Amino acid sequence: MNMTIRTINEIFGAEISGLDLTQPAGDATRAELNALFAKHAVLVFRDQPLTPPQFMQAAEIFGSLMDQQIKQFVLPDYPLVGCNSTKDLPRKNGKLQVRGENYHTDHSNDIAPPKATSLMAVQIPSYGGDTQFVDVRRAYDDLSDAQKTTLKNLRSKHVHESSRSPRSFSKLSPEDMAKIPHTEQPLVIKHPISGRPALYLNTGRMEGIEGMSADDGFALIDELYQHATQPQYEYRHQWRVGDMVIWDNRSVMHQANADYDPEEYRYLYRIMLHGDKLQPFL
Ligand SMILES: [Fe+2]
Repeated sequence: MNMTIRTINEIFGAEISGLDLTQPAGDATRAELNALFAKHAVLVFRDQPLTPPQFMQAAEIFGSLMDQQIKQFVLPDYPLVGCNSTKDLPRKNGKLQVRGENYHTDHSNDIAPPKATSLMAVQIPSYGGDTQFVDVRRAYDDLSDAQKTTLKNLRSKHVHESSRSPRSFSKLSPEDMAKIPHTEQPLVIKHPISGRPALYLNTGRMEGIEGMSADDGFALIDELYQHATQPQYEYRHQWRVGDMVIWDNRSVMHQANADYDPEEYRYLYRIMLHGDKLQPFL
């Protein structure tokens, strides 16, 4: 095995080279990659122009594939593979309405939210369209002891779309909406592998804090969100064709950017992996 690991910054993220993800990974490689994933939270594999079945095989190194929620944006032959395409995006005042354009963690209203999301870049615009990540483990670590004590035991209700969401979500069919759960999630979660605590935030879906007034709950969410999205917690991924990136939804938040030329074509495959019910950090 010829794997090379380059850490992206001192907090999180690692770029892995020397692997050919078109080939099945052996047990030792799988174990090493999963350990790296639990530690670094975002793994970047460059120069891996994978076909959809190869992308599925590569993502399965890290877990089992999960259904895509928005059925109109999946590959007809591979329904577990979603696609993010500029051709599917509505426009408002000439600007593309990109999904995921504020920091969030995917499907936080699921009873067991996806442990990971992965994208594989098929076509990329000449500039813009980066994906940003912030490390919500380090953001938690940097809170004061008093703040950590306050947050312990607090839970938030996560719904499909918060009444104070900064963005609007894709409209789902009544059948799909009926399947959408509303869930209480801990405000501080414990990573199932590393045991590290992390803030669990999603302003698009959080509907206040249990036991607090709406205004107090949303004020606390906003304060934590402002804290966790500071530049010192960020890695900004500039896509190249053939990049596969996988991130841990229990350790980072991510956001998309609509800052590219809407006439240019941007197309990525997307996979999510099943996760377990979130555990509080007590
Ligand atoms: Fe997302």
